[in-house]
Amino acid sequence: METILVRHLLHADIPGAMRLKEAAAWNQTGQDWANVLELEPDGCFAVECDGVLAATATAVCFGRELAWIGMVLTAPEYRGRGFARRLMESALEYLEARRIEWIKLDATDMGRPLYARLGFRDECLVERWLLAPERNTWTRNRAPDLAPGAPDLELDRAAFGADRSAMLGRLGSFESASMPGGYAMGRPGTKAAYFGPCVARNADTARCLLEWFLANHAGEGVFWDILPENAEALRLAQEFGFEHRRRLVRMARPGIPDPPPFVHNDCSVYAIAGFEYG
Ligand SMILES: CC(C)(COP(=O)(O)OP(=O)(O)OC[C@H]1O[C@@H](n2cnc3c(N)ncnc32)[C@H](O)[C@@H]1OP(=O)(O)O)[C@@H](O)C(=O)NCCC(=O)NCCS
Repeated sequence: METILVRHLLHADIPGAMRLKEAAAWNQTGQDWANVLELEPDGCFAVECDGVLAATATAVCFGRELAWIGMVLTAPEYRGRGFARRLMESALEYLEARRIEWIKLDATDMGRPLYARLGFRDECLVERWLLAPERNTWTRNRAPDLAPGAPDLELDRAAFGADRSAMLGRLGSFESASMPGGYAMGRPGTKAAYFGPCVARNADTARCLLEWFLANHAGEGVFWDILPENAEALRLAQEFGFEHRRRLVRMARPGIPDPPPFVHNDCSVYAIAGFEYG
């Protein structure tokens, strides 16, 4: 008889979780799993099947206004058995108990029907763009000399719509730069370096931050996830030789009845933080 256990995801699960994300060809590192586990240990869930990690889902809260669901993965051999649904229900129960006003996620085509049935509605598209290593020739001597710096949290909050300072504190420990009117961060990935988050008041500032990041990663592949609502971000991606790779759908669902509207400004978001972070 098979033993199926729905439980919290733990640090000890990270090697197994990496196997799940490899099967889906995602870019996350072990550190990305550690980040969500440390930010929201009680919001990360797993299905264990006869001692094997079979499925995961994580939820990170940004104050009471917003929570982000990510890392919804089921190992190929366990798909179609209701594991993702069970973990989504556990995550939603956790968030509803905390009376989180809005819950969002970035859905792949495979995940979208499940989320729609759980009450999520489409909000906008999210596009993944890739700069191939051979096209990444931006050199250090052409890049602005930006110092590592803490992000402007007020600017970030107005763009993203919620206080994500704890998460930014974590992501910024890899690579970050700040200048008047904007900031950017980057981190490693298993397939390509990741540019984001980047929030800026205008395209000139975003361009400076992008040049800084590319100069640090000359010759490497770079992923950049863009909200196409921000036409300036798309223009920059094309100008710098990025190519469109994937399209996901950002979805939202109220966590409480009649929540206040969630106010944000996608036009200042030049790069999201990640499909799993928002
Ligand atoms: C998406 C994914 C997590 C679904 O996991 P799963 O454990 O097989 O899902 P479940 O068995 O719980 O099925 C959930 C629901 O989706 C439906 N479903 C599952 N796979 C589907 C597919 N490929 N197409 C359409 N519907 C599908 C099921 O019928 C089920 O519907 P129901 O709850 O109304 O009965 C899994 O396919 C996966 O890991 N894919 C790769 C990574 C990915 O894209 N993750 C989503 C990130 S947003």
